[in-house]
Amino acid sequence: MKKTVFSGMRPTGKLHLGHLVGALKNWIVLQEDHACTFGIVDWHALMGEYEDSYSIKENIIDMAIDWIACGIDPERSIVYVQSHVHEHLELQMILSCITPLGWLERNPTYKEQLREIKTRDLQTYGFLGYPVLQAADILLYKANAVPIGEDQLPHLELTREISRRFNNIFKTDLFGDCEAILTETPRLLGTDGRKMSKSYNNAINLSDADDVILKKVKSMITDPKRIKLLDVGHPEECNVYSYYQVFASGQSQDVCKWCTTAQKGCTDCKKQLAEVLIEKLKPIKDKRAELEANKQKVIDILNEGKKKAQAIAQKTIREVKEAVFK
Ligand code: TRP
Ligand code: SF4
Repeated sequence: MKKTVFSGMRPTGKLHLGHLVGALKNWIVLQEDHACTFGIVDWHALMGEYEDSYSIKENIIDMAIDWIACGIDPERSIVYVQSHVHEHLELQMILSCITPLGWLERNPTYKEQLREIKTRDLQTYGFLGYPVLQAADILLYKANAVPIGEDQLPHLELTREISRRFNNIFKTDLFGDCEAILTETPRLLGTDGRKMSKSYNNAINLSDADDVILKKVKSMITDPKRIKLLDVGHPEECNVYSYYQVFASGQSQDVCKWCTTAQKGCTDCKKQLAEVLIEKLKPIKDKRAELEANKQKVIDILNEGKKKAQAIAQKTIREVKEAVFK
């Protein structure tokens, strides 16, 4: 039997290279031999960004376009919007009845976000329950494999704990365990060397125009020890080099050589990287433009996805209710 895969992404803004190498690449490979469902999780976006809710709608279509342009195939995978399938909320409610508060309050991802994010008030009932909705997403489709980034591991652990507790309390074996599928590619940092993120303004977006890509790459921080052209560089300490490794591994030996022997300066090295990225993104951009011009097609795809997702979700909810109310 094909393994069942579920993953989701919050429609909070434009997709960037970090999403491409950190998640989408993985998803695209998985859809070859797994039954995949990929959700645009707009309720999760609302939980964190309720003050900016008007942009969510636009971001949903944008995200669907990005996914499909990158190679997510709606013929093979279910691509849909979380809020279109009401069963997510129904299961979340049921699971929230059995989830101990302490599990949520102890969640390291939650604690970190409360500590780090100062621009939004996340001290809400909804945000505390974020992982319960995520558990509902996964369990609704009975996914046994969940491609995620490392930062999401605590949420997956909670999913397992919640599903076991459900089985225990309601004396059922409805839910199996799920495992994480972690991406193998090293994490791609932003242009300033921090985690690539919209909120740090250091991301290269999939939809950036060529001149924007060039400008962003030119601004990248390189080996801090290489100040003058004649100083030799240390590629392993340079973010530009790690981009070469991810996007043009065939060229990385050359980069190493010109860098460690000071044959080429950082400016040229970066210019060449920009060319590589522009070239890599071209097919995605072309496909993107095609879909932009035919948004109805994207809407139709999401409606199709909704129907397929709903069929599975409704069946699970029936089983859940049977287990709960006997
Ligand atoms: N919390 C995830 C993130 O921010 C998104 C998400 C929501 C998700 N539901 C999910 C990921 C279910 C995997 C499975 O990245
Ligand atoms: Fe980095 Fe390239 Fe400069 Fe070396 S030459 S420090 S790899 S940008």
